[in-house]
Formats: sequence, structure tokens, C-alpha cells
Amino acid sequence: MLFDIRPKSSRSDLFDREDELREFDRAVDHGRPLTLVLGIRRIGKTSLVKAFLRERKGL
Ligand SMILES: Nc1ncnc2c1ncn2[C@@H]1O[C@H](COP(=O)(O)OP(=O)(O)OP(=O)(O)O)[C@@H](O)[C@H]1O
Ligand SMILES: [Mg+2]
Repeated sequence: MLFDIRPKSSRSDLFDREDELREFDRAVDHGRPLTLVLGIRRIGKTSLVKAFLRERKGL
């Protein structure tokens, strides 16, 4: 559902966020104490975090 107004929650629904997901993975794998997901409103911050957590935690 490309035009769903709610945040996406899986990698397959996200458009062009492979780099960001890889960067997120790397930050966590390196044990970074803090990772910030910053961007203007509606850019997809929540979607990125949800997709990431789903993969990392098997949610
Ligand atoms: N990369 C993407 N691919 C597909 N849909 C996206 C993408 N990024 C955002 N969207 C869609 O855009 C809308 C806003 O996404 P989301 O809520 O994740 O953004 P946000 O940055 O967390 O917004 P807010 O600033 O309101 O918290 C949603 O409908 C979401 O599904
Ligand atoms: Mg949000």
C-alpha cells in the first residue's frame, strides 16, 4: 500500500531506504550508544524505525 497514510513497517514496503537500513544496522552492530533518525516531517522516520525493528527483533 504505497499511499497508506500510516507508517510502513517492512523493508519491502519502503521505497529507496536500503542505504538508511544498512546504516542503521551498522550503528547497532557497532554498539553505538545513540542513533538518531532525523528528518523533516513525513519523510519516513517512523517507517524506517519500524521496518528496522521488525527485522532485528522478528516482530
Ligand atoms: N520510503 C518510503 N516508502 C514508502 N512510503 C513511505 C516512505 N517514507 C514515508 N512513507 C509514507 O509517508 C508517510 C509518512 O511516513 P512516516 O510516518 O514514517 O514519517 P515520519 O517522518 O515518521 O512522519 P512524522 O514527522 O509525522 O512523524 C506514511 O504514509 C508512510 O507510509
Ligand atoms: Mg513519525
